[in-house]
Amino acid sequence: MLIALQGLASEVTCSSPVGFDRLEVLRRFSVTAMGCLTGCCKFLVLIVAVIVGYWNSMERPIGPVFAAVFTVVGMGKPKTEAVPDDLTPAPRPSKELFLGLPSGAKMPANGLGMCCRPTAYDPESVYRTVLWYLLQGGRHIDTADIYGNHVPIGKALKEAQKRGVPRKEVFLTTKVFPDDFGYDATLHAVDRMLKELDQEYIDLILLHAPRKFHPWTAYQMYLNSSTDEFWSNDCRNQVACRKNTWKALSELRASGVIGDAGVSNFRVEQMQELQSLNLAPIAVHQIQYHPWIPPWQQEIVDFCHAHKIAITAYFSLGGIQTKDRALSLDDVKAIAKKYSRSSSQVLLRWALEKNVSVIPGTGNPHHMKENLGVYDLSLNEQEIASINALKSEPIADDFFFFKW
Ligand SMILES: NC(=O)c1ccc[n+]([C@@H]2O[C@H](COP(=O)([O-])OP(=O)(O)OC[C@H]3O[C@@H](n4cnc5c(N)ncnc54)[C@H](OP(=O)(O)O)[C@@H]3O)[C@@H](O)[C@H]2O)c1
Repeated sequence: MLIALQGLASEVTCSSPVGFDRLEVLRRFSVTAMGCLTGCCKFLVLIVAVIVGYWNSMERPIGPVFAAVFTVVGMGKPKTEAVPDDLTPAPRPSKELFLGLPSGAKMPANGLGMCCRPTAYDPESVYRTVLWYLLQGGRHIDTADIYGNHVPIGKALKEAQKRGVPRKEVFLTTKVFPDDFGYDATLHAVDRMLKELDQEYIDLILLHAPRKFHPWTAYQMYLNSSTDEFWSNDCRNQVACRKNTWKALSELRASGVIGDAGVSNFRVEQMQELQSLNLAPIAVHQIQYHPWIPPWQQEIVDFCHAHKIAITAYFSLGGIQTKDRALSLDDVKAIAKKYSRSSSQVLLRWALEKNVSVIPGTGNPHHMKENLGVYDLSLNEQEIASINALKSEPIADDFFFFKW
């Protein structure tokens, strides 16, 4: 921040009165201010992460913290609009794409994310969001235990079934948080999740993250370093914890309670630990994925593709914090204009072209429809290359990448 302020000072003092261009100074000021904000924001995220980590180390559930934060953020903001009583299911999108999983299931490549925005926490909005999505032809829902929205999602699934959306067409993913890692704890958590969702089975369950979230974990993640040596959770040893969780999920898979098992935010060596057990194959890895991922994250994606582990992307649109900037980049807008599509559709289609499934989060029925309408869009090689090249845009620095 200091460097940025110094930069600003030199910009102003070095401008000669003759060549003084107010607009240019204003532009540079806003760029510098944005740099300061990003720096402050990153520091703020570290502080919040450490506080949340401290809270979590006290054995209090992290879900209510999430819910409280987003409820406060959402105060005064509109809820998802009500679904008309007479709305019936629309046909599924044409040219729909799927990713094959080890169980033989076909995961629709385009889903709905249910985290990280106010409409994913207010129960009425959650119910309406999921119902809108299913009635508009979507069939893949992504949630997690810590999002705390299982109950309204379950209600929306039942209502959609009543209106003619067969359960077997819907692909439902949820996640076990590390607080529930361990063999018995996982069995107990999945039993509870089935009841909350009011389902007999869940298509995919992921280990949400490799290890419990403590202040030290938060600090390590901020530095993009990672070790399992410190801050073991209740299983005493993080590796044993993950392995016991995997054992429980493998048994649940064998008995048909879950269709497939997968991971999220894992490093390669953490996936290899699970693979060495020769239990259930890792079906899916859910990870932050968009044009701005760093090379070490791309290596994880490449490992998964080489091992037939399907990738599901989160933050495809940049996430709630960065999406406005991501969607207004000139290169993205130019491609969108060429096809009379939106920037969101271009970024989603780019991910599909990389053989990655997407789960854009939205509580807005119009955005859902738009997001589902990318199966029939295709990008040529040059356009894909121009989106790959966005890596070098300054926006890349605004993303947080955590090595769990
Ligand atoms: N495994 C993990 O650790 C992890 C971490 C984070 C997220 N996730 C999952 O990934 C999902 C996706 O991430 P995310 O929801 O945070 O980020 P995202 O999908 O990149 O962006 C969501 C934001 O984009 C907006 N949006 C969606 N469609 C749009 C459209 N067509 N036009 C304009 N704006 C649009 C949404 O606002 P509106 O509501 O106004 O449309 C929302 O603010 C989550 O919901 C969650 O299920 C997983």
